[in-house]
Amino acid sequence: MTDRRPFPSRLERLPTVDSTQRVVREWLAAGQPEVCVCVADQQTAGRGRQGRGWIAPPGAALLLSCGFRPRGLAARHAWRLAATVSLAMLDAAEEAAGLREGTLWLKWPNDIVVDAPDGGLRKLAGVLGEAADTGRAVETVVIGIGINADWAKEAFPVELAGFMTSLRQVSGGRPVDRENLLEAFLDRLEPRYEALQAGHFDAGGWSTRQRTTGREVEILVGPEIVAGTAVGVDPERGALLVETSEGQRAIDSGDVIRCRVLGLMPAAPDLAPDLAAGS
Ligand code: BTN
Repeated sequence: MTDRRPFPSRLERLPTVDSTQRVVREWLAAGQPEVCVCVADQQTAGRGRQGRGWIAPPGAALLLSCGFRPRGLAARHAWRLAATVSLAMLDAAEEAAGLREGTLWLKWPNDIVVDAPDGGLRKLAGVLGEAADTGRAVETVVIGIGINADWAKEAFPVELAGFMTSLRQVSGGRPVDRENLLEAFLDRLEPRYEALQAGHFDAGGWSTRQRTTGREVEILVGPEIVAGTAVGVDPERGALLVETSEGQRAIDSGDVIRCRVLGLMPAAPDLAPDLAAGS
């Protein structure tokens, strides 16, 4: 008999919560084994990166957080958990929405985006990682992902409509079943996470799916704007490699406030800085 743990160890679907991040963090603090997953129909205080908020009308998005206890994942590789969640969701989303493989992309570090007919990029999903580590190894991590699934175009908030889209919109208005999407995501997360635990990160998948590569970018790092051509990513440290007028820079994902792909992304939505769905 093999000693396989159930995957996920706990899965709860809640109608309304403040944030699924808070729920899973509390589960882990109370000793819940990994991998535990909380899904919500609606969040009243959804959290995005850099202290921003995250909004979606009830039932329009798949909103979830996963709690991990990654044995042996070095602190310098903690970012790979968010990348792993993002890649699992990207594959699941293409399948659940009936999209051709290669339709969806990552926008470094882990947003899921799609090319828009006007030549721009539209954001489908954002990922938020919150880790508690003790120096060398990572103890517990909560990774949250919100993906705009069955959200009709007519209901996009006006201030975000130019930056965001949904799987429903990308697949020509066909309804997208969030349960199918969740199932497809969990089916892909399990082998990807097992591989990560065994020391195998999908560096190739993470690198080739980056829509940033070869494009002009403008990155806000603290008070500084770094501008140049994104020439690739570094799968050892999770950094974006940017060729600037002063030479190559490697920018770590944890330091980034905003990454804009010039020519593909409209100016970031400074009008609504607390609504992160399109940033
Ligand atoms: C981003 O800013 O791009 C990341 C957004 C992450 C949103 C998800 S929705 C589910 C989970 N719960 C939260 O409060 N945030 C994450």
